Amino acid sequence: MKGLILSGGKGTRLRPITHTGAKQLIPVANRPILFYAIDALTQAGIHEIGIIVGDTADEVRAAVGDGSKFGATITFIPQEAPLGLAHAVGIARDFLAGDSFVMYLGDNLIAQGIGTLVDEFQRSAADTMILLARVPEPQRFGVAELEDGRVISLVEKPSVPRSDLALVGVYLFSPLIFEAIDAIEPSPRGELEITDAIQRMIDTGKRVLPHIIEGWWKDTGRLDDILEANRMILDTLEARCDGTVGEDVRLHGKVVVEEGATLRNCVVRGPAIIGSRTIVDNAYIGPFTSIYFDCLVRNAEIENSIVLEGTRIHDIAGKIDGSLIGKECEVCKSPARPTAVRLMLGDHSRVEL
Ligand code: DAU
Repeated sequence: MKGLILSGGKGTRLRPITHTGAKQLIPVANRPILFYAIDALTQAGIHEIGIIVGDTADEVRAAVGDGSKFGATITFIPQEAPLGLAHAVGIARDFLAGDSFVMYLGDNLIAQGIGTLVDEFQRSAADTMILLARVPEPQRFGVAELEDGRVISLVEKPSVPRSDLALVGVYLFSPLIFEAIDAIEPSPRGELEITDAIQRMIDTGKRVLPHIIEGWWKDTGRLDDILEANRMILDTLEARCDGTVGEDVRLHGKVVVEEGATLRNCVVRGPAIIGSRTIVDNAYIGPFTSIYFDCLVRNAEIENSIVLEGTRIHDIAGKIDGSLIGKECEVCKSPARPTAVRLMLGDHSRVEL
């Protein structure tokens, strides 16, 4: 089996972060989301992996490298535009070369891993296996309708969903999927939909196996989902301290201090992670917070948030909560009079005061 991870697309719901970076590289618990997908494949014994890349190809290539750090061989497959999930599979035909494969959406996180699913698919001799999860807002996803345990219909983001079973972003395919992709047309939104290709498999009598997952799963397309994924992954970490922690520091619960981080006169309530070379000084870091590398948090309080590399947060009166702060930002008190909120924000930013 091979693996195909989709890491192209636009990430419009996470602007302005995605104006300058790939959504799949946003760190959750200080590790890019995409890396969890690569781990899931290698842990399931799949080491030959293709990654679909778009406008952010250079950044994705630089972060992933040749795959050796994951114990995998990675082939990057450029997609000229985000023309749909089925289009992305279609352009990987040469790479997949007649093998069965796992398609993994690079912005999805699945707690339970995929090893048992890969075994089940191989034992079943099915042509496709789809993963489903019960969700409160099915209209945001591809939705499956089952009858007597069989899939009878799949609809992409229906306004009136026929069930609460959402398609999770992991699919297992035999090479027969290419016949179905060749037969479908772009949807009204102009994309070649993988749901249409799977529906075609069903309509032409191929075996499409559903598997309802019980553990947590997140499509990290929106801020709230990323913060929730961050909470879930942080909760699974073991406390560790590889940095310098002063005697006036109090660490409560599961706190990870990465190499080269310096903590002085502060309280950190886990689960939380402080990245390499980050300085936390006279500050409070609350539960479910991930501060990435080379940051500064001084005279400030923050919780339930993600801060990307190189950002400086200092001399803030209130507490920062539920926030995603990009790379090399500065959040600070303005020294100038009159006292006011002064902003220089990228396009599509959102500030709640
Ligand atoms: O997360 C699960 C959902 O993922 C499913 O329930 C839906 O049926 C499925 O269509 C998909 O919906 P999204 O709207 O979340 O897909 P999105 O456009 O976010 O793309 C998913 C990933 O694939 C993301 O990492 C970007 C990448 N991608 C997307 C497109 C359209 C590509 O690499 N190329 C593309 O052409």
